[in-house]
Amino acid sequence: MEQNRGSWGSNIGFLLAAIGSAVGLGNIWGFPYKMGKSGGFTFLLIYLLLAVFVGFIIMMGELSLGRKTGKGTVGAYRSLSKRFKWIGWLAVFSPFVIMSFYSVLGGYCIEYMSLNLSNLAFAGAEIKTGADLFGAMLTNPFGCVMFTLLFLVICYLINRGGVSGGIEKFNKVGMPALFVMLVIIIIRSLTLPGAMEGLKFMFVPGYAVKAGFIKEAPKFATVLATAGGQMFFSLSLAMGAMITYGSYLSKQEDLVKNSAIIVIADTIVATMAGIAVIPAAVANGIAQINAGATVIDAVTGLERAMTFADIKLGGPSLLFVTLQDVFQAMGTVGPLFGVIFYLLVLIAAISSAISLIEVVVTYFMDRAAEKGKQGNRPKVVLWVCLAILVEATVVALDGLGTNVLNIWVPLQNSFGVIGEFNDCWLDFMDTLSEGIAMPLGALLMSLMVGWEIKPKTLLDEIHQGSAAKIDGFFSFCMKFIVPLGMLLILVGQVDTFFHLGIF
Ligand code: TRP
Repeated sequence: MEQNRGSWGSNIGFLLAAIGSAVGLGNIWGFPYKMGKSGGFTFLLIYLLLAVFVGFIIMMGELSLGRKTGKGTVGAYRSLSKRFKWIGWLAVFSPFVIMSFYSVLGGYCIEYMSLNLSNLAFAGAEIKTGADLFGAMLTNPFGCVMFTLLFLVICYLINRGGVSGGIEKFNKVGMPALFVMLVIIIIRSLTLPGAMEGLKFMFVPGYAVKAGFIKEAPKFATVLATAGGQMFFSLSLAMGAMITYGSYLSKQEDLVKNSAIIVIADTIVATMAGIAVIPAAVANGIAQINAGATVIDAVTGLERAMTFADIKLGGPSLLFVTLQDVFQAMGTVGPLFGVIFYLLVLIAAISSAISLIEVVVTYFMDRAAEKGKQGNRPKVVLWVCLAILVEATVVALDGLGTNVLNIWVPLQNSFGVIGEFNDCWLDFMDTLSEGIAMPLGALLMSLMVGWEIKPKTLLDEIHQGSAAKIDGFFSFCMKFIVPLGMLLILVGQVDTFFHLGIF
């Protein structure tokens, strides 16, 4: 059975796929927005520290866990631990939940790409503002479901092709293309008047408060929790994705080097996305003020420049309102940049979505193999995608809380504010997966590796193919730093989501 499981075609193919999984909406949308909300430079610094001491360690842990057992998430935990064997389930459940909103957002990207494409084709036609477009899109639930479906069909076709024949192939073309497009967008963004303010916000310590982007510096614990949650999500950790990808990796590959490359590449792309998005958003806000825009609410004027700094507007409007306006303000070439940008985000979303789907698919394929059967991949992928379509339809119809399916606002009205998630389905799904299951999974994993099966079990695996002297660092981080960091992040997340006021 084992030889039929499939494997990566080459190490570079694996790397591109793993980087593809890591680089996603989390980098291009989440990172700039969370950085804005958390005061710029401080966030960046904490993020980098966490990536080295926690992200890199867990990345190595997950890849070696997968490769050692040659199994997907559930199988991997089950074959190593008595006490923690059920964590595997947490790590199949979370990707499935993430896909409920990931595919809807992917659908939005397709819709915006088409909109810009038609603006390009019909130059001179009346052009709507980002806010109008976004509103029109959300209040058209049928359209949202159709674009979500389209996104899932694309993923289905890729996952169906298998690990090397589908996932690896897509990333080998997609990742280099994404990089080139990102560079083009950065050049355009940085040459907008006022862009430098945005750059200073990102890289000058204390500038966010001094220049009035945010009123006061956010609390350290809040920044830590935000940066931690973001780091996990962005690196595709604690959700079985890297265990699954590692299980298809050959024994002679260097896990230390591979982990370092994935973490560095993902962090570079996140920073680059910040440089592409933040200065453009700030420039747009400044241009509006110079044009005499009055600040009525958070959607205009300088507050507009701070969409990302202002927690009120959250993420989606940055990507689909502010940036769309940035492209439209560029005149005739604007739609061209719009097409490039939304295509870039779409590729990033697809390459991550296929890794999330693969976690679930691998579980079913492994289970078939355990029963001595050869799983039928196209059939498994189809059923997984259909199940995702069902939950995604709820999120798509909800339209970020604008439509009928919104049960959260009535709930909130009758019971009072029970948390930050309770205004739309997307937030609820996000809280469930990113907010709670992910830090919890990572905490349990580090406890299992650090204290039950002992770091040595994984180090033996890591040393096949790597002579790096990381034993002491790995064990120490796994035993102490990671659990402590995870506990802090978990408490911080629960605290912010439920307004408990612990920190
Ligand atoms: N890393 C992706 C992003 O930044 C999201 C993602 C893909 C993910 N696969 C994952 C998150 C597995 C957690 C686990 O958008």
